[in-house]
Amino acid sequence: MSRNDDDDKHPLLHSTPEGSVKIPVASVSIGREATQTKGNMKTTILVWLTLQNSIHTLLIRYSRAREVDAMFVSTVAVWLTEVIKCFICLFLVAQEETPRRFIYALKTQILEQPFDTLKVCIPAMIYIVQNNLFYVAASHLDAATFMITSQLKIFTAAIFTVIILRRSLNTTQWFALGVLFVGVSLVQLQGTASKTMDGESPFTGFVAVVVACCLSGFAGIYFEKILKGSAPVSLWMRNVQMAVFAIPSSFLAIYMQDAKTVNEYGLLYGFDSIVWLTVLWYGIGGLSVAVCIKYADNIAKNFATSVAIVLSTIGSMFLFDFIPSLTFLLGAALVIFSIFLYSSHQSMVAALGRLRGEIPTTKEAFCL
Ligand code: C5P
Repeated sequence: MSRNDDDDKHPLLHSTPEGSVKIPVASVSIGREATQTKGNMKTTILVWLTLQNSIHTLLIRYSRAREVDAMFVSTVAVWLTEVIKCFICLFLVAQEETPRRFIYALKTQILEQPFDTLKVCIPAMIYIVQNNLFYVAASHLDAATFMITSQLKIFTAAIFTVIILRRSLNTTQWFALGVLFVGVSLVQLQGTASKTMDGESPFTGFVAVVVACCLSGFAGIYFEKILKGSAPVSLWMRNVQMAVFAIPSSFLAIYMQDAKTVNEYGLLYGFDSIVWLTVLWYGIGGLSVAVCIKYADNIAKNFATSVAIVLSTIGSMFLFDFIPSLTFLLGAALVIFSIFLYSSHQSMVAALGRLRGEIPTTKEAFCL
């Protein structure tokens, strides 16, 4: 990982020519405490995201695949998710400020900084397309195939990490990503073997997932770059900025795609408690992703969600009579193996750093 500007600002730190950091003994414990706090936070959010994602996949699949008289319009669900996220973020921003400062913060950080607000327009728009595509995919693939194919995000996030964030990955990590890709492809072969319901097309689902994963990789890394960039804007405020674009554009998507149904039956056609729960859970998931990008990074986030495969596979065996084939199991095993391969390298680097009494980067140690 490269050094960053914060290194120069911290009074306790001295750089070595290799770019690693040596710090006085007295401050080592402070650094360790801060690192540990961040480590705990990171672990908590990663575990939470794993659980959240497993339930999310099952819910989204269940909401689309069950037999109902009126099937809800997915573009409306995406729009309502954005509205709910916006309200939650406004509430959280309000918690950080007094009522007067709340209005002032919205005015100064959104209205009076149009270019800064405009920066988040790109990931906001991309996320809308991605979220719609994931509903398409969920309508055509079974829960486990959908979940595992979505892991292509790891690959796309890694590529954009290198291109946009200019971080480097070593050979083992690229190899792990290659194993992941093979694993995901094997799982896709299951598409023809698994039970498909009327009107489902695994190929359409697969194309939707692949495109959504490319968009996810790009948008996630772009958002990470903005979030960890120089402007002192809080995570929740960044999400309010995103909502400025996301809410109108997702509303537009309803009329571009589903105008006929909505005009005939109304916006909330087919909405029952399961759909509302899916929408709320999608929103919570989105905000969990945002927190994860802040405290960890996109690649760690994607590995965490990979663990959800196992849980959602077990879940879909019970819920959707999903019978995994041998190819599926081999693919799933490769996906899990790649996670360990990738992360074993990272933990080795961290362990070596600890042995040498060095802290790899100051951002990891001090800046949450
Ligand atoms: O796993 P993935 O990166 O594809 O998840 C992205 C999801 O998180 C999208 O639903 C997106 O709307 C949401 N998100 C969010 N706020 C952010 C970043 C992502 O709501 N700041």
